Amino acid sequence: MMKKGRFIVVEGGEGAGKSTMAAEIVDYLREKGVKDEDIVRTREPGGTPIAEDIRTILKDIRKDDILCSEAELLLMYAARAQLVKTVIMPALEAGKYVVGDRHDLSTLAYQGGGRGIPRELIGSIRNAVLGDFYPDLTILMDIPPEKGLVRAGKRGDLDRFEQEDRDFFERVRKVFLDECEKHPDRMALVRADRDFAEVRADIRAILESKCIAG
Ligand code: TMP
Repeated sequence: MMKKGRFIVVEGGEGAGKSTMAAEIVDYLREKGVKDEDIVRTREPGGTPIAEDIRTILKDIRKDDILCSEAELLLMYAARAQLVKTVIMPALEAGKYVVGDRHDLSTLAYQGGGRGIPRELIGSIRNAVLGDFYPDLTILMDIPPEKGLVRAGKRGDLDRFEQEDRDFFERVRKVFLDECEKHPDRMALVRADRDFAEVRADIRAILESKCIAG
C-alpha cells in the first residue's frame, strides 16, 4: 500500500533535547491546522506495549547476564518491527503525521558506531525488517557528548547506555554527523547546545523549508 502521511524523526545523542523538540514539532503541526487525531507520537525503542517491554530489557542494567551487542541489535529491530508494522505504517497509510523520538539511524550510530557492529550486518537486518521504508525528514539534534551527558545525568539514574564512556558517545556522534552530511535530501542538522528559542526557531525553519505541513 502507498504511504500518504509524513514521518518526521528527531535523532541525536543523550541530553540533546529530542523529546522537547518533538513536542515543538507537534505544536507546529497544530498551528498549521493539522488535527490532534492526525498526529501520532512515537519513541524508539518503544511505542507499543510489546516494544516498551523490549525497551525495559534494553535499558536495564543487570549483573547476572550482560546483553551482548548482537542481542542488543536484534532487540532494537524487534521493537522497531513491532512499532512500524502496528503503529507507524497504519498511521501513514491513514494520511497521518508521525513524529518520532529516534528511529533506525540510532541503530547505525549506537550499535554500529558505538558497539562496532559492521555496517553491512546492520544494513541487512534493516533491509529485512524495513525494506525501502525511510522517514520523510530526520532532524539531527547535535550536541557535544560532554554537554549532553551532563544534561542526561540531571534526569536521574543513568541507564545501560548512559553509563557508556565518552569515546562511545563520540563514535555515536560521528555516525550521526556523517549520515547527515550524506543525506541532505532527507536529513537536517540542528545545533542543540544553544538556547531553547534558537533551537526551536531552527526547527521551524526546517519544517517550513521542507514544506512539511500544508
Ligand atoms: P532515549 O530514547 O530515552 O534516549 O533512550 C534510548 C536509548 O537507546 C539511547 O541511549 C539510545 C539507545 N538506542 C540504541 O542504542 N539504538 C537504537 O536503535 C535506538 C532507537 C536507541
